Amino acid sequence: CGIVGIVGNEPVAARLVDALRRLEYRGYDSAGVATIHEGRLDRRRAEGKLYNLEKKLDEASLPGTIGIAHTRWATHGVPNEANAHPHFVEGVAVVHNGIIENFSELKDELLAEGAVFSSQTDTEVVAHLLAKYTRQGLDHRAAMLATLNRVSGAYALVVMFEDDPGTIFSARFGPPLAIGHGRGEMFLGSDAIALSPFTNEITYLVDGDCAIITHRGAEIIDYDGKPVKRKSQISQAAAFMVDKGNHRHFMEKEIYEQPEIISHALSHYIDFASHTVKAQDTPIDFAKITGLAISACGTAYLSGLVGKYWFERYARLPVEIDVASEFRYRELPLSPTQAALFISQSGETADTLASLRYCKDEGLKIGAVVNVRESTIARESDAIFPILAGPEIGVASTKAFTCQLAVLAALSIGAGRARGTVTAGDEKAMVKHLSEMPRIMSRVLNDIQPQIEALSRDLSRFKDVLYLGRGTSFPLAMEGALKLKEISYIHAEGYAAGELKHGPIALIDEHMPVIVIAPHDRFFEKTVSNMQEVAARGGKIIFITDEKGAAASKLPTMATIVLPNVDEIISPMIFSLPIQLLAYHTAVFMGTDVDQPRNLAKSVTVE
Ligand code: G6P
Repeated sequence: CGIVGIVGNEPVAARLVDALRRLEYRGYDSAGVATIHEGRLDRRRAEGKLYNLEKKLDEASLPGTIGIAHTRWATHGVPNEANAHPHFVEGVAVVHNGIIENFSELKDELLAEGAVFSSQTDTEVVAHLLAKYTRQGLDHRAAMLATLNRVSGAYALVVMFEDDPGTIFSARFGPPLAIGHGRGEMFLGSDAIALSPFTNEITYLVDGDCAIITHRGAEIIDYDGKPVKRKSQISQAAAFMVDKGNHRHFMEKEIYEQPEIISHALSHYIDFASHTVKAQDTPIDFAKITGLAISACGTAYLSGLVGKYWFERYARLPVEIDVASEFRYRELPLSPTQAALFISQSGETADTLASLRYCKDEGLKIGAVVNVRESTIARESDAIFPILAGPEIGVASTKAFTCQLAVLAALSIGAGRARGTVTAGDEKAMVKHLSEMPRIMSRVLNDIQPQIEALSRDLSRFKDVLYLGRGTSFPLAMEGALKLKEISYIHAEGYAAGELKHGPIALIDEHMPVIVIAPHDRFFEKTVSNMQEVAARGGKIIFITDEKGAAASKLPTMATIVLPNVDEIISPMIFSLPIQLLAYHTAVFMGTDVDQPRNLAKSVTVE
């Protein structure tokens, strides 16, 4: 899931591992590094975390001033040492992110020609193809191009040849890859954060680029060998402090920085003095569009689902929303009178990008709600709505989620004003609530922490949890369940409270706690009736409500978490805090790898 390459002037192994550490947040299950020293390729690879790889490097160092390295998130083949990258075939070393989709037909062809495979990965076919073309007499550049013209799928590839210890070849089609420019040294990496210890001058490769780096610089060509020009830019990645501060985990740090970060994000969208939404100068005219399509994955999808309620209610805009892996293939009829929004923390998620391209082909104007402004999704959009959350390192998204919500809230109010469905008075009132939100978030984080920590101990005894909510609390219920299962591995489901009796009620007993998210809003009474149905069947209830809600319900609960009474427009952001903390503390209590939960990746650049 992360790639690094260095053509350096001093030993590179430790620097490669340092760069891999900066990519750890993307998630991985094995790692490896290879160098060329005195004309010979050598490598160390290890299953599991980077310290396993470092242990191997301590036992047997890897000299050499040129090298490539990789953290792997298994797709084809289990995460063991044999499947870890770099893969070597006859003096060719390859690391790869993504999926080679035609790998089985290529593998059959290579096997028929006598190739012997030493892993179950799709990547190894690339190494074999490169070796084969080299054997046929092609030079390295020609072998690289011949190989790129044979493989299809999604890939970022980085390649070294044993007999050329001054050059690294690379290609991008899908997963991101960037060149870092140093002084007499050159770098390749999955993102600017990986390269930040070495350089801040970055060139992002585009799909279909093949880049060749040497001590002298970088050359970019297309798959026909024709030169391509790409501008370099100065990256801000190094400016961000990517460390945990006083927190035990990045996730905890990211939960606690929400009040500050969200106020920063809000200041981009609202005018705190006049309590109005700032007009966004973009080609998307919310006054004129006839509908909005929203697509995203994971947590970003759930923020979009909250956004749907807002755009429909405040801007009276019909919203079509789906997870990107379905959206991209649904052949949804769309019209250029509609606009489309794609929500993505990383801006690189493969399915979200494919949905974007579908909408673009249908002639819709495209908006990107992204955290990474240099990302592919941002670059391919007509309008960028940054969420300004700063780098999010914990795999489980927290601050990106609430910042996405804040941006969507502001955009929906702005759209309502443009469409004449939100009056100046309503706008003022809602924006005022938004501007008070950071302060309320701070207070809530402070107040509920001890209670949630204690409750997490109880929760960690259970194997299954049901989350319920109505209205905007329904997507929150799904987010609560997602967070909990992602990091504590407790099975959890999020349901619309009204759907309880259409299925999940059959599961209710004392072994499955039901977490009910119910602010005292217009749905409160109805949600309480659903709670009643749970209580009547001996279900244990964890009630997340506000002061009015706590006063209004007399039902016995396992715990009641009481938040301040807040306006409907900010309640999803405020109610996100207890569900994040509940997942976090439960996971800490259970001793899981909170920041890098098993099997998950931060940035999913494959289908
Ligand atoms: C992965 C991450 C999730 C994230 C989703 C979408 O599954 O683990 O936290 O919500 O991808 O990622 P994106 O970068 O598009 O928001």
